[in-house]
Formats: sequence, C-alpha cells, structure tokens
Amino acid sequence: MAKDTDPREEIVELRAQVAHHLHLYHELDAPEIPDADFDQLVHRLRALEDEHPALVAELNADRAGSASPGQQVGGAPSAAFAPVTHDVPMMSLDNAFDVDELRGWGERLERRLGDERTIDLWNIELKFDGLALSIRYEDGLLVRAATRGDGSTGEDVTHTVRTIADIPHRLPAGAPPVVEVRGEAYMRKSTFDALNDAQEAAGLKPYVNPRNAAAGSIRQKDAAVAAERGLSFWPYQLGRVDDGPELLRHSDTFTFLESLGFVVNDHHRIVSTLDDVVAFIREYERKRHDLDYEFDGVVVKVDELDMQRELGSTARAPRWAIAYKLPPEERATRLVDIPISIGTNGSATPYALLEPVFVGGVTVTNATLHNEDQVRAKDVRPGDMVIVRRAGDVIPEVVGPVLSERPAGSTAWEFPTECPMCSTALVRPDGEARHKCPNLDCPAQVRGRIEHFAQRSAMDIEFFGERTIDLLVTEGVISDVGDVFEFDLEVLRSFEGFGDTSIDNLRAALDRSRTRPLGKVIFGLAIPHVGSSNAALLAKAFGSLQSLSHATVEQIEAIDGLGTVIAESVVEWFSTDGAQAILAKLDSGGVRPVAPEVSTLEPTLSGKSVVVSGGLANYGRAEAKAAIVDRGGKAPGSVSKSTFALVVGNDPGASKVTKAEDLGIPILDEAGFETLLETGELPV
Ligand code: IVH
Repeated sequence: MAKDTDPREEIVELRAQVAHHLHLYHELDAPEIPDADFDQLVHRLRALEDEHPALVAELNADRAGSASPGQQVGGAPSAAFAPVTHDVPMMSLDNAFDVDELRGWGERLERRLGDERTIDLWNIELKFDGLALSIRYEDGLLVRAATRGDGSTGEDVTHTVRTIADIPHRLPAGAPPVVEVRGEAYMRKSTFDALNDAQEAAGLKPYVNPRNAAAGSIRQKDAAVAAERGLSFWPYQLGRVDDGPELLRHSDTFTFLESLGFVVNDHHRIVSTLDDVVAFIREYERKRHDLDYEFDGVVVKVDELDMQRELGSTARAPRWAIAYKLPPEERATRLVDIPISIGTNGSATPYALLEPVFVGGVTVTNATLHNEDQVRAKDVRPGDMVIVRRAGDVIPEVVGPVLSERPAGSTAWEFPTECPMCSTALVRPDGEARHKCPNLDCPAQVRGRIEHFAQRSAMDIEFFGERTIDLLVTEGVISDVGDVFEFDLEVLRSFEGFGDTSIDNLRAALDRSRTRPLGKVIFGLAIPHVGSSNAALLAKAFGSLQSLSHATVEQIEAIDGLGTVIAESVVEWFSTDGAQAILAKLDSGGVRPVAPEVSTLEPTLSGKSVVVSGGLANYGRAEAKAAIVDRGGKAPGSVSKSTFALVVGNDPGASKVTKAEDLGIPILDEAGFETLLETGELPV
C-alpha cells in the first residue's frame, strides 16, 4: 500500500482484511492467502496502530469497543462447539521475519530488564504448524480439551482430543490436582499422505495440507472420524497448574511434562546468545523437509521463568517469546500456459498453469499472476521453468523465470485481446492495472454476480450453489439477480438431479431470503466499491432500495465513512436501465428488505465528537456512547483536538482530563452532559 495514504483509511482497510482472513483461517479452516502475506498485513496494521494510538482509540470506540483484529489472538469460537473459558488466556506470539527483528527484540527485552542485565539462557524450539490446544486434568484425569479460540474463550473439543494417542487420559499418581497442558495437535506428513490417498480412492476432495487436515479433524462432531485420522500432539507450555512442583526454567517445564507421561519434541535447545539462536534457525531452515511433521518457524523463549514474569505480556502475546518465521519455500517447475480468468466484475486475471509441483506441503498446479504489469515485470513466458513459492499456506506465487533454462526463440507474453468466455475485446481502463471484459452479459460475469448475490453474507440463499446457478445461467433461465426470485422453479425438473425435495428446499430458501436486512441486499447487488460495511452504512442512511436509487453523490458523500468514489459508483450503478429493471424485478419477486432501525432522536450532536470518561450515575458506558451516537455524534475513546467536549464522571482517566485541559476542550459533568445531549450546546 502506498505510504501517502490516509492512515485512518489504511487502518480501516487493513482491519477489514485481517478480520476476513482470520475468519477464513480459524473458523472455516480455509485460508485463501499465504500465511506470510497474512503476517505482513498484521505487521503493517500493528505498526500503523502503534504509530496512531488516538486513531485506534477512536476507531475502537466507533466499533462499540471491539478490539482491532490486529490485537486479536485467533478466530472467534464457533457456535458448533460448547465454549470453554481459559483460566489462563492462551496467548499468541509476536513474529520476527528476519535476524534484525530478532536481535531488536532481544535488545528491547534487555533494556526493559534494565541495570544492564543480560539474558543468558534462551530456549529454542520448533514452531509446529497445527492447532493449539489446552488440555485440562483434574485429579489426574483428562476432563476437558479446548481450542484457543479468541484466546480467552475456545471450543470444547474433548471428544476428538481423547482420540489422540500422544495425549494421556490419566496422569501418573502424584500429579497436581489441576494441570493444563498446552501444545499443538498436528498431523504427521506420512499420515496426511495416506489420508489423501484414501480420500482420492474414495473419490473425495483431498485435504490442502496437514494443518488444515488436523484442524478439520479436531473440529469434527464425530470422534470416530477424528480417531481414524491418527493425529499427534506436541506439548510446549503449561496453563493453570495448582500445587505443582516449583519450576525455575522453561526447560524444567519440559521435564515436568515428561514426568506426566507426555512426549516432548526432541528438537529444542538452550543457548546463551542470540548468535546461537541464529545458528539454530539456519540449521532448521536446512532440515525443514527432513522431519515427518511441518514447522513454519522457530520459537525463542526466555528460559528463566522469573524473568518471564518480570517481562510480562501485552494484550495478545508474551514479551518473553517470539516466533521467527521461516521464509516461504521455493521450487522450480514448468509454466505450461498463462490463461485468463474472468471475475464477477469482469476483471480479467492472468494465472500460471503449472506442471504439478510439490511445494510448501501441497501440490501446486496454478498460481495467480495478478495483472499484465506483474507478468511483464516478472517476464514469465509459457514454456519457461519458473520458481514457485509457497509458505505453509494455500495460495502459491510465481517468483520469476529461471532464465538459464529459457527455451531458445521464446518471446514475451502478450495479454490476450479477447475475453476467453465471450470473445468481447478486453479493455484496460486508464490508470488501472487490471484488464476488464466490458460485456456485462458475459456469462462469467452473470454467474459471478448471481453467486455473489446468493452468498451467505448477502441474500444467504441456501440450496442455490454454483452448480444450480451455472445450469440456470447456461440454459438462459436467469440472466441477472432480478430473475432469482422470479423464475419458475418448475424448470429445474428438466435438469438431472432435481426433484420434489430439492425444488421445495430451494423454494423455501428463497422465501426466507425475501426478508433479508437491507444492508445485505445492497451488498448483494455487487455495486463496485460497496463492500458489506459500506452497504450497511447506505442501508442505515437511506432505509430502502427505492430511496437509495434516487440518492445523489452529495447525499452519499455526506455519510460519515463514505467518500466520493463510493458515492459516484452507487449513483452510476443505479442510473442504468439494467439496475432499474433489477429493482423492479426484485420488487415483483416479493423481495422486501428489512430496513435497519433508525434513531428517532434529534441529531443534536451531528458532526460533534464527545468523549466520556469515568462512571456516570444515569448511564452505563455503552449507554452513554449510544446516547451520543443516536444523536448523530461520535463517541471516541480518547481526547484529540477535534473533541467537542469531555464528559467526566466518577474516577475519570487522568490523562484524558489533562489532555482536554491542555487543548482547551470543555469539560462537563453529568448534568452538563444531559444539556449537551438535549441541545447540542455547551451548558452556560
Ligand atoms: S508457545 C504464550 N511454542 O504458535 C505462548 N507456541 O503464533 C504460547 N506454536 O498459539 C505459545 N509451536 O499455537 C509456543 N513451540 C511452540 C509453538 C507454539 C507452535 C503455536 C501456538 C501459538 C501460536 C502463536
């Protein structure tokens, strides 16, 4: 992202991206970008958030107190398993991507300890790529096992964890009355290969990688399925321990874990300098493929537990540990061709069709090349040997050609002139990196728009998946999203695989979707630049599709959080005949979007930002914020020069009061707050 972008916009955008990928990774076990890319997003977000604490406080207040995903540990716990609150939070780890970052971390720790104290015992171990678990024993018996979840609440997966042979069900006599063992459930590479052979033989989809297979197996409802998968476990940490032995060093933890009957991974070491740590890292970079399980980094921990306690933790991670991430893995293979795929909005994306290559734990056959400029910059050509890179993750990347092996007489690749789906001439709008197929009726686009409309976060139409949509579009039954609620379902009878049940199911699903929230419907229309949060803002501001369709650029721009690009895009979209026809069809198809509740209070605080600090007698924290927001104001968590007033109750934050005084911002008590709410003016 360019350096000169607005930090607020960049933080908002990064938060949305990080939240999206966290959801895919932790809750759906289906990541769509490489871990290394995800880590970079989080890295950038944290750096920006560290640089702009006031913005962070304000944004957090706008999101009614929810934390940035950059500060979040993992995914939200799924509703499918019972929640388990961790007595001791399960923290995440900060990352170092190179040796300089690692050394910088070491120096910061020593500075923090002060008095020129040095750290002379570093514990180094592998960072296993699996699913973190906390396993609780009471009176020697395994009573509960939980995933990490969001760090404070995980999911109860006791039933599947009991099937892991490495995890004892009973601890030896003399074990403490309560012990929580933490570690990583994983699948051995050999087990994974056998599992995928079996999947393939049964005509089922293979698993992407051992991590996903392990996570998917743990999060099975049926323990028997997990048992068949043959999972393994490496312990590396303790959670709550009551009346345990006195441990002085992290390495004592390993000895203790062994005494409880756990097998601790062999590849750990205690060294006295960061130079030795770097040597260990180099050694394991080389050994990466020699072990029968995947690791994606090396975890460095301060060994002395007293020192760990002294160094403490931030909200998400201990200061005394860091994960050194191994660089993504690379392999060479043949680039067979560079075909073009056409997306929902007509974007034409070149991708690499590769001779299958095993890299980063999976067999890769294609990789995106993004756009014309990227292909040109890399100068990759069909027939080239190319380097493919992939970290422990899903989307691989083509790094570049192996020039020494380039076939004689090869010529640079040219972007095709026609859409592969509908033969319309492709265009590349001025100033944009992407080519587009301008034909709105291109079957790829029609299908894409309808799939977008039907997806869970939009109209949420069950039983209306890719195959059904593809059939209906190909047969010319539906050609835009307006047709979805209007077509005669009976036509499905003529297609293979459709009968009474599937038609009834779809009919009922369509019925349920007729009353979706307005914001979801607007999102479903696939208006360029209108993602789900912008759609929610539009729904709140306009209350109906009809009134949104008559909105002007000025009206939309005036909405807090929306800018000119979005405003113009919305107005342009609704200005076409096609859009009007869609609205008419949705209406006659019985779609009745449900408008969000709108505040009926006078917008006395419109455009004003009011900070509340300390306890008020008549308003809880959330209530005070709601009272401001419902009157059109903003209720950020910190004082800045744009603050209109600071309201103080019992025990207000001293720094807020000082800052308000410094900036000359009015400070009100609760009575003053009530006047402000009512009149929008400061009390006299
Ligand atoms: S220690 C409070 N040690 O990495 C520190 N974590 O990115 C807790 N992980 O949640 C973590 N191998 O799932 C630790 N040897 C290791 C690890 C390890 C893998 C995972 C674990 C953790 C995540 C943080």
